[in-house]
Amino acid sequence: MSNDGVNTGRRRFLTAATSVVGAAGAVGIATPFVGSWNPSAKARAAGAPVKADIGKLQPGQMIVVEWRGKPVYVLKRTEKQVGELDELGQYLKDPKSENADQPEYIEGTARAIRPDLMVFVGLCTHLGCAPKFRPEVGTPDLGGSAWVGGFFCPCHGSRFDLAGRVYSGSPASQNLIVPPYSFEGESVLVIGVDQGAA
Ligand code: FES
Repeated sequence: MSNDGVNTGRRRFLTAATSVVGAAGAVGIATPFVGSWNPSAKARAAGAPVKADIGKLQPGQMIVVEWRGKPVYVLKRTEKQVGELDELGQYLKDPKSENADQPEYIEGTARAIRPDLMVFVGLCTHLGCAPKFRPEVGTPDLGGSAWVGGFFCPCHGSRFDLAGRVYSGSPASQNLIVPPYSFEGESVLVIGVDQGAA
């Protein structure tokens, strides 16, 4: 993990991969970007926070929100999926996310403020491709009975669980990045503003 030595209140983010636009487009094929009441494209690119309506998100459903030119995956996990996160440690490189880029208020196996809602940057920590959402269980080519749904990177085969934690044997070495985020009420997600900063 890199750190610039300054206490910024959260861990430092990796810089954007050069293929961000292409990667985001690829994600959009299966999971369209969510339009919302956000600032202009120019302001967003400069780092303005973006808001997304998550009020209608159903368990098991994922949306993609653009933030700083990157795709941010927002997944509403089922209770079962959250419960299974504790059982996957033996298969993962960093099950407790001790070497992950994530805000300091993100902790535990769920890696989320709200266990049912996973928010992370949809760029593989290997070389920046967009991992594909593969929620189906027991898929033979993804680990068989050990696969309880997750994300698969088509570029070099990295696998991540539903908390963005990387599986052993993957070329990626770090868990997927969690951006700063917070909520306005129950149904508005704010990406780019730390919890407690408002
Ligand atoms: S970019 Fe994802 S495995 Fe290489």
